[in-house]
Amino acid sequence: MASKKTTQKIEDEEIVIDAQEEEAGIEDLPGVGPATAEKLREAGFEELMTIAVMSPKELGDQAELGEAVASKIIAGAKKMANVGGFVSGVSLLERRSEVQKLTSGAAALDELLGGGFETQAIVEVFGEFGSGKTQIGHQLAVNTILPIAQGGFDGEVFYIDTEDTFRPERIAQMAEGAGLNPDAVLDRIHVARAYNSAHQMLLVDEIKRMSKSIDVKMVIVDSLTSHFRAEYVGRGMLAPRQQKLNKHLKELKQLSDVNNALVLVTNQVMSNPGAMWGDPTKAIGGHIVGHASTFRLYLRKSKGGRRIARLIDSPNLPEGEAVFTVTAEGIRE
Ligand code: GTP
Ligand code: MG
Repeated sequence: MASKKTTQKIEDEEIVIDAQEEEAGIEDLPGVGPATAEKLREAGFEELMTIAVMSPKELGDQAELGEAVASKIIAGAKKMANVGGFVSGVSLLERRSEVQKLTSGAAALDELLGGGFETQAIVEVFGEFGSGKTQIGHQLAVNTILPIAQGGFDGEVFYIDTEDTFRPERIAQMAEGAGLNPDAVLDRIHVARAYNSAHQMLLVDEIKRMSKSIDVKMVIVDSLTSHFRAEYVGRGMLAPRQQKLNKHLKELKQLSDVNNALVLVTNQVMSNPGAMWGDPTKAIGGHIVGHASTFRLYLRKSKGGRRIARLIDSPNLPEGEAVFTVTAEGIRE
């Protein structure tokens, strides 16, 4: 990648600087000797970008460093990774040009999302029970394994299962539906059952560590909110719950940015029988989840086993709807 960048026009300073950054590693940070570098590496911090977006307390806790040392390291990483200030539109466009899109298997749904499910993004899929959230998770996991020419990512999947609804048999069925070898697909989907919200958050750290040796292109959290909702009950718990969720989402977003990966989170709706007009349902987690998600898809059941997906609050796409069905082979038009 660096060599590709250095061949670009020399007068374009941004791009030349980018190429130099890729050479720099954690050893080049001020105040980082071999021992500290080892601590950082063990805690999963190998890229400057990952360090640059941490808070001193978080980095200190996770890498077992003093807060003052962590703070100095972060400042260095910010300078070297050039994330502390403004970047030109050109380099933003260049980053956007790395975005890849994953097919869902249903053309109308892909079209609703401007060509598929994007990397460098969090997609929130929310809706009532049985609306198809878990089925979409399974299907996108399978499609991630597809070759790029067939709308896949040819990469690996991390699946955080909080409700014990991941089914390898269903993956095998969908793999066959996509013309893939079921065992080969299952081999590239890494699943962990999260037992509570703290465990769920720890699993993201684990993915960060494993992404050093595995090409992670997709992270699924099904469901994002169920543990948080069950554990943080009552009025006084709302603020701490939202804070934790916010931190969790930030870490997920970081994973998607650093790995050019897609993050899919599912979310239930609270039924709101008091609502007289409009949709009588609201996503759990409210503003925090909505704000952190790049794309939000609201699913609802329709006649004849059909499902309707509605795109909500997209940064650059019109709102709209797409119809799809869940068949034995998977998600289809
Ligand atoms: P909750 O997690 O309960 O909130 O629901 P969800 O939104 O995750 O629903 P899910 O994705 O589990 O959708 C369940 C629906 O998918 C079922 O009611 C079926 O209509 C359909 N479905 C699930 N498995 C299969 C299958 O193997 N074959 C077919 N044809 N349909 C399936
Ligand atoms: Mg589900």
